[in-house]
Amino acid sequence: MIEVTDLTKEFIRGHGRIEVLRGISLSIQRRERVAIVGSSGAGKTTFMNILGGLDHPTAGNVHIDGRDIFQLKASELDHFRNRTIGFVYQFHQLLPEFSALENVMMPALIARQSITEASDRAGMLLQRVGLSHRLVHKPGELSGGEQQRVAIARALCMSPRILLADEPTGNLDSETSREIFELLNELHEQGDFTMAVVTHNQELARQLDRLIVMVDGRLEK
Ligand SMILES: Nc1ncnc2c1ncn2[C@@H]1O[C@H](COP(=O)(O)OP(=O)(O)OP(=O)(O)O)[C@@H](O)[C@H]1O
Ligand SMILES: [Mg+2]
Repeated sequence: MIEVTDLTKEFIRGHGRIEVLRGISLSIQRRERVAIVGSSGAGKTTFMNILGGLDHPTAGNVHIDGRDIFQLKASELDHFRNRTIGFVYQFHQLLPEFSALENVMMPALIARQSITEASDRAGMLLQRVGLSHRLVHKPGELSGGEQQRVAIARALCMSPRILLADEPTGNLDSETSREIFELLNELHEQGDFTMAVVTHNQELARQLDRLIVMVDGRLEK
């Protein structure tokens, strides 16, 4: 379970401070599927990055399964992220020099699994996202939807308890977006993870268990 308490985030810019998150509190239950919507600049990415331990809050805290993640040392937080959180970005952030299989293996290699173990797992995941025929393709040789499938497979490589996706369909057409959401829901159904997805697509957002609206750094009541 995820417990967010009084989270704030400020950025210092020149002389001014920008308050991007203004006191966010939220509980997300185990296996819940949460959609986060809100206009551009509302703070969604900032919030997701903090939720995933990629950025630190100015104040407030995030407990994941009872653990205050920002009390962890940097190396402990890295380890925790690798084991617990899978992240899917808007522009997939795949490594261009590596094949689909190698990209998906990466988190397992970082966790020092053997190459055989990592590549078996990656091959299985790519099959589950419908890409067993694209293992040796590099990201530049894949369509946008396929790249996003690889990114989802990579995010699931370590069997994370939490999957965070920041506009995973942001640059895909509506049909492909629907397919990606179907895939996420299917993987969630078969798996055992909590899911938070930022999206601009209200229709897709409503398919999940709960819709959270962010307005100007706060959650709408
Ligand atoms: N590193 C930074 N330094 C200064 N300001 C920042 C930084 N990162 C984000 N901001 C500001 O914080 C606000 C929220 O940004 P954020 O990326 O979280 O919005 P968002 O809701 O994800 O928007 P979008 O829908 O366009 O992706 C914006 O006004 C942005 O300019
Ligand atoms: Mg964003």
